[in-house]
Amino acid sequence: MNRSEPFRPPAPKPKTMAGAFASAFLGARDVLSLLPGSAYETFIGQAPGSKRPIFIVNHPHLVRKVLIDRVANYPKSDLMVGALAPLVGDGMFISAGETWARQRRMIDPAFAHMRIKTAYQQMVAAVDAAETRLDAAAGPLPLDEEMSRLTADIVFRTIFSEPIEGEHASAVFHAFAEYQNSVPQIEPKVMLESPAWAEIEPPKRVKEMCAVIRERLGVMIDRRLASGERRADIAGDVITARDPETGEGFTRDELIDQIAVFFLAGHETSASALTWAFFILSQTPETVARIRKETARAVGDGPIRFEHVRALGYTRNVFREALRLYPPVSFITRIATKDDVLGEQKIAAGSLVVVSPWLIHRHRKFWRRPDVFDPDRHLPGRMTKIASLAYLPFGLGPRVCAGASFATTESVLILASLCRRYDFETLNAKRVMPVGKLTTRPKEPIRMRFLRRAPHPASAAAPAPVSG
Ligand code: HEM
Repeated sequence: MNRSEPFRPPAPKPKTMAGAFASAFLGARDVLSLLPGSAYETFIGQAPGSKRPIFIVNHPHLVRKVLIDRVANYPKSDLMVGALAPLVGDGMFISAGETWARQRRMIDPAFAHMRIKTAYQQMVAAVDAAETRLDAAAGPLPLDEEMSRLTADIVFRTIFSEPIEGEHASAVFHAFAEYQNSVPQIEPKVMLESPAWAEIEPPKRVKEMCAVIRERLGVMIDRRLASGERRADIAGDVITARDPETGEGFTRDELIDQIAVFFLAGHETSASALTWAFFILSQTPETVARIRKETARAVGDGPIRFEHVRALGYTRNVFREALRLYPPVSFITRIATKDDVLGEQKIAAGSLVVVSPWLIHRHRKFWRRPDVFDPDRHLPGRMTKIASLAYLPFGLGPRVCAGASFATTESVLILASLCRRYDFETLNAKRVMPVGKLTTRPKEPIRMRFLRRAPHPASAAAPAPVSG
């Protein structure tokens, strides 16, 4: 099936400003469906009707002022901290100032470990396990759940050298699924009604789920500490990490904080991105055909090795384009600690400053055909200067995502592997719609059939030599 029209993946229709506010105050929970049309066109704008000033900053030059040039004046907001603190304590994703700098110093070796070549075999093992599950499925599966299981499995194997099926790992996974369903990145009513530096109290159920996750992670850490075993994985690196300035290690609670950050940041976002990528693939078989052709040319029929991943440029651009259209972190929120001026806009201390990859990636003035799926727009030289500055799925500046290469490598491996093995059919495609939960997720589960293809002949294409 070759389509003549470009594919426009589903997105909520922009509202009028009045409609957006009425819905927010009536308790609508999905912030994506509340965005007014003007938010996709402005460079910087103030949201009316809120208790504290809220600014949407879209222009790439102004975004760089917030996230890079004046980063110390714009720490993570109370909304982001409120949503994540019950899970990650004062862990690296939300900590600030000297606490963050110390954590980063200590955790850098673990990130070095994340540096991917070491983790690649764990990724391959998790993909093999996922294929076994998909082969055994008798009918359609909820795509987002499958992607969460796969990326959680990768992250568990990388942190603890064990798969998701273990007793404690599996309990963490299930509690997390409930947590992510109940915690939005932004609760519109709370955002509009909270004063500056509000203490945001999470719902009781959320706190209970976080307690379960932290308790089980604690058991896994204790087991490792008691065994005295030194394994080459993230848990091992974080346990032995020492502050180069004081020589001190993390306390037990801090260990749980940091491992929880790895678990949260390391799987939820990738699962969101892959869910959207596979949904798009199910609607554009021509994209699947190109991924297969590229994989056959670069890899042949054998295993996809670490060195091959770099040669899969088209597949990587499919992933990049899925991240543009459905950035998992659709809102990066900061709080202004000092009065400032951005462009010509005065920003009072205490204002909420929102940098939204969702809005910026679909901005009418930065992108050609912003709502169209077009992986080739990421080819070198194709993007306008402003579009390339307006692409920030992993954030920017000192707090940029520490796992961007990890996420890209696992995703390219997963896309290429599953495209070789399956055709994809979405049964409820017409009802698919994104909503802003903890990450950008489908409003209702995407029901997907993974149809096993007949193994294709080894002669499909001669394997090309791997070029670095
Ligand atoms: C497609 C997948 C991913 C996306 C879209 C993504 C996105 C982001 C974004 C936007 C931020 C910055 C948030 C802010 O400035 O407020 C961030 C931070 C972070 N990410 Fe990711 N991420 C992904 C995968 C991963 C993975 C696989 C890891 C691995 C462990 C990871 C670890 C982290 C950590 C530790 C931070 C905090 C860094 C700091 O504050 O110093 N992420 N991520």
